[in-house]
Amino acid sequence: MRILITGSSGFVGSVLIPALEQAGHTVFRLVRSTEQTSEHNIFWNPSAYRIERAKLPGFDAVIHLAGENIAGRWTETKKEGIRASRVDATRFLCNTLIHLPAPPRVFISASATGYYGNRGDEILDESSTPGDDYLADVCRAWEEGAQPIHDAGVRTVHLRIGLVLSPDGGALKRMLVPFRLGLGGIIGDGRQYISWVTLDDLVGVIRFVLDREDLSGPFNAVAPHPVTNTEFTRALGRVLHRPTFLPVPAFAIRRLLGEMGEALLLGSACVYPRKLEEAGYGFLYPDIETALKMILQR
Ligand SMILES: NC(=O)c1ccc[n+]([C@@H]2O[C@H](COP(=O)([O-])OP(=O)(O)OC[C@H]3O[C@@H](n4cnc5c(N)ncnc54)[C@H](OP(=O)(O)O)[C@@H]3O)[C@@H](O)[C@H]2O)c1
Repeated sequence: MRILITGSSGFVGSVLIPALEQAGHTVFRLVRSTEQTSEHNIFWNPSAYRIERAKLPGFDAVIHLAGENIAGRWTETKKEGIRASRVDATRFLCNTLIHLPAPPRVFISASATGYYGNRGDEILDESSTPGDDYLADVCRAWEEGAQPIHDAGVRTVHLRIGLVLSPDGGALKRMLVPFRLGLGGIIGDGRQYISWVTLDDLVGVIRFVLDREDLSGPFNAVAPHPVTNTEFTRALGRVLHRPTFLPVPAFAIRRLLGEMGEALLLGSACVYPRKLEEAGYGFLYPDIETALKMILQR
């Protein structure tokens, strides 16, 4: 397939692209800098609604990963950047693609388990209602941003991605230094659920939904065994052979990280990949201890 990818330079895109190329696909990137010239780069500036339309026809698939990173303090400006880079950019991209002489056959977009909000130990699947906090609102609007391409008859998949685990980036990489120093510990009361997926499995899921023409709509891209923060902390400590006795109280998270810490570190979502399991996706790493062992010890 000829595949176009947004957000290609990110944590997920930079591992996904070689995997797709190795599988025989031809990958083009939508890049935001005119300086990144290459035969396989196409320029766009979603915040200015600019895109090189003439280079867009002829793609079989578009994989849309772009979005301002959500780490860091959520000031009003940051929150607007997180929202606009997902919601407005998705709508702009989809409206562009549907007016091409040859639109893609499939549009796969990142979304996040943040869609469900802070839900305690309720078991959540794709049929669950959305949450009502800031991230849930962003995720819902992000998915709705692709409505034009869905309405135009293009197969559309929303991957509600959980915490992506890889030692080379994202949250796990940031955790490794304190944990290796023996400074890791449970966060808050440790009962909040973490719905996680290894980067290997996320790449596997993207390839799976790309190939399976019968699949569309939202898919929870999470392993089938979500864990509490306590279980995650203990498993990481065991794999690294380090103690995890130093708890991080909720008030410290709130004071240091504000709303972002409240949502990402203290919020709870026990998300289950019901549709992926029904479709027959076999997870490489379904449980946390094996997953951490495999990705940290290779
Ligand atoms: N990593 C996770 O744990 C996780 C969990 C749930 C959901 N997701 C979602 O999955 C997607 C990919 O995740 P990731 O970890 O690869 O993210 P990432 O490392 O932050 O990369 C996202 C990419 O989006 C592009 N981008 C950044 N700011 C942008 C802006 N203001 N406007 C438009 N594009 C912008 C950049 O690519 P270019 O410079 O190439 O344009 C960037 O490399 C994201 O949408 C993310 O929200 C990730």
